[in-house]
Amino acid sequence: MTLLGLIKYAFVLLLPALYLAHRYYSAERTRALPPVAPDPEKPVKTIMQAPRDDLAPPKDDPFTLEQLREFDGSDPSKPIYVSIKGTVFDVSHKADVYGPGKSYSIFAGKDGSKGLGMSSLKPEDAIPDYSGLNEKDRKVLDDWHSFFSKRYNIVGRVTDHPQPLSSNL
Ligand code: HEM
Repeated sequence: MTLLGLIKYAFVLLLPALYLAHRYYSAERTRALPPVAPDPEKPVKTIMQAPRDDLAPPKDDPFTLEQLREFDGSDPSKPIYVSIKGTVFDVSHKADVYGPGKSYSIFAGKDGSKGLGMSSLKPEDAIPDYSGLNEKDRKVLDDWHSFFSKRYNIVGRVTDHPQPLSSNL
């Protein structure tokens, strides 16, 4: 065998051995590390806004779906409302998100429960009737309800929501 052949042969044998050794030692290293427990002092970083502790007591003002349309942000002198499962939230302080032409304006001045549950921004999905949602999407919808409840003042409820109010949160 030539010297070159010998070197090639050594390489072929050496590479898998190096790979296996690397795997073995990195596995050992990981095992040796203490488990990382989340630090309750350090809040988890998220791009979503944090829950608020200065919310006003919930109001129970009645709104029809028709009346809700007034509060879609197109009149800057009026608040912006988003309804989820018939609960009306005042989202005015997030006009940068719900105002006209902004990312989630599709949900302003209406109850777009179905679209929220489906994670859809299509106008045809932003409707109050969420009866067609599967279990997973209903959970997503409930999570949004709880997200909004912790961040926005409740100003009322929709009186002509297609789902009976008893099935609301
Ligand atoms: C590529 C897809 C998406 C990206 C990158 C994205 C990104 C984001 C970001 C960065 C925020 C925080 C916004 C802020 O507070 O300024 C947010 C919030 C939100 N997103 Fe999305 N999003 C996406 C898709 C969707 C879809 C499909 C929906 C439909 C349900 C949705 C609904 C929302 C809602 C309701 C909020 C809460 C806004 C609030 O009130 O704070 N997003 N998203």
